Amino acid sequence: MELTELDARRIPVHVAIVMDGNGRWAQRRGLPRTDGHAAGEEALMDTIWGALDAGIRWLTVYAFSTENWKRPVDEVRYLMNFNERLLLTRRDELHAKNVKMQFLGRRDWRVPKRILRRIDETLELTRDNTAMTVSMAFNYGGRAELVDAVRAIVAEGTPAGKIDERTIRRHLYDPTMPDPELVIRTSGEYRTSNFLLWEMAYSELVFTDVLWPDFRRSDLYAAVDEFQRRDRRFGGLSDADPNAR
Ligand code: IPE
Ligand code: IPE
Ligand code: MG
Repeated sequence: MELTELDARRIPVHVAIVMDGNGRWAQRRGLPRTDGHAAGEEALMDTIWGALDAGIRWLTVYAFSTENWKRPVDEVRYLMNFNERLLLTRRDELHAKNVKMQFLGRRDWRVPKRILRRIDETLELTRDNTAMTVSMAFNYGGRAELVDAVRAIVAEGTPAGKIDERTIRRHLYDPTMPDPELVIRTSGEYRTSNFLLWEMAYSELVFTDVLWPDFRRSDLYAAVDEFQRRDRRFGGLSDADPNAR
């Protein structure tokens, strides 16, 4: 699918992606699972540039979940180093293209200090950029995000009767982030795996059999095309926007 085939007036503001299938991609080639993660870098960069060209303003990618710590230590270590190296080698070109980098997730003791430092440097470098916000969901869990929000609300001493949906939204990892209109999951798995629980209440879900390392901007555009064919009703009878708040 080409960008020119899409309806330019109905490009989603925020697209979120569960980048899945790296291990299977590698296994099918008789390679170690970690080679699949490495091959995912090209998929990610092509998707970022494709999103930028399409005018998508927010792109959120699931890079490491709070459940991924259950994997063998070698794979976890590989993923930590891989994400650090990705930041180091790519942040300058992202910055040059006016892309703002952001991180959604828990900064707990399990994340090496070195990586937290790289994250902070990257946030600082790109913080005033305006073309697009790329959020890396890293040590991210939707339930953890809600637990963290509840803790913050309680710590502030907010009376129970004063808590509404806006209170919760204000305490999410990025209160300024609009809900994703479109959530894509690759590799033929039909689940959300604890991604953006609050935020995807009304997202359109698109599942594709493409394994993440094979994903390219044309696959992103195909998902946007499917999104543009959906009738979004938000519980009502006509198109309305639940993000209007
Ligand atoms: C997604 O690929 C990347 C991460 C979860 C970090 P997987 O590693 O889950 O690949 P499969 O699902 O085993 O093929
Ligand atoms: C979801 O993929 C997490 C990321 C893509 C980072 P998983 O491969 O970890 O999810 P499950 O285990 O299939 O639910
Ligand atoms: Mg997987």
